[in-house]
Amino acid sequence: MRRPKISVIGAGFVGSTCAHWAASKELGDVVLIDINGDAAQGKALDLFEASPVEGFDSKIVGGSDYSLTADSDVVIITAGLPRKPGMSRDDLLSTNAKIVKECATQVAKYSPHSVLIVVSNPLDAMCHVAMNASQFPRERVLGMAGVLDGARFRSFIAMELGVSVEDVQAFVFGGHGDTMVPMPRYVSVGGIPLQQLLSEDRIAAIVDRTRKGGAEIVNLLKTGSAYYAPAASAVQMAEAIIRDKKRFLPCAVFLKGEYGVQDLFCGVVAKLGAQGLEGVPALELNAQEKNMFEKSAAAVKELVDAMAKLGV
Ligand code: LAC
Repeated sequence: MRRPKISVIGAGFVGSTCAHWAASKELGDVVLIDINGDAAQGKALDLFEASPVEGFDSKIVGGSDYSLTADSDVVIITAGLPRKPGMSRDDLLSTNAKIVKECATQVAKYSPHSVLIVVSNPLDAMCHVAMNASQFPRERVLGMAGVLDGARFRSFIAMELGVSVEDVQAFVFGGHGDTMVPMPRYVSVGGIPLQQLLSEDRIAAIVDRTRKGGAEIVNLLKTGSAYYAPAASAVQMAEAIIRDKKRFLPCAVFLKGEYGVQDLFCGVVAKLGAQGLEGVPALELNAQEKNMFEKSAAAVKELVDAMAKLGV
């Protein structure tokens, strides 16, 4: 039987951590690509040499040549610059757009049937770049943000309540930026609605920390942005697709009228399986949630329009 193949573009911290998790979960064979081909090859070899010790059985190769990625099932695009303290994700727009365009073009050439998971920032705008460059249908271009922002939200709730993260279910809607919309009304802790466990004030403080969760890590690291949680989140999406799990995961999806948004990537809960995007369940949003979601979508639209003006 042919093993699934996962390619990761960009062998920086996020990319190499994606390779690590994908290989250790034995999702399939892993290819790590970077413009610095030696670094990608070295990290792939180093990771493969860990496999006899850790006991995972995945072939892992690396380099700069996209032919290595041929016939991938899932491709995770992490290439691009990370932010530094004081920068917003949006500050990366034109540099990363050029990088993501080139990566997605190459990926589409060698793996025309793959599902793309975009991780590069500013996330929602980079999804547009990847979709335009690959010419893939919306089912096969997804952005990783909601799983990460949701994981931060879940972590902070678990820390606040002193309960296991395993029991906290939560998701975030909207763009991957300051306007993101954590959804406390849909949080459950072991099946119990969050509102029964925490005061409005505490929930508001956790929502605020979640929105700024990426910046919190950037300010601590000083030289780059988060990578463990982003990589784990991208790999969870890849796993849902490769193992055809039909999971409900929050991610950036090209909306075609869902939630009143047309032709724009924005974070919603999506059903992920072997086809990539297999559905967008229609959640009921109250007036406040709807308003915040619309504001977040408008912020994404502004960025996509700015990109068009820059000609990238
Ligand atoms: C973050 C960056 C990767 O949220 O967007 O950590």
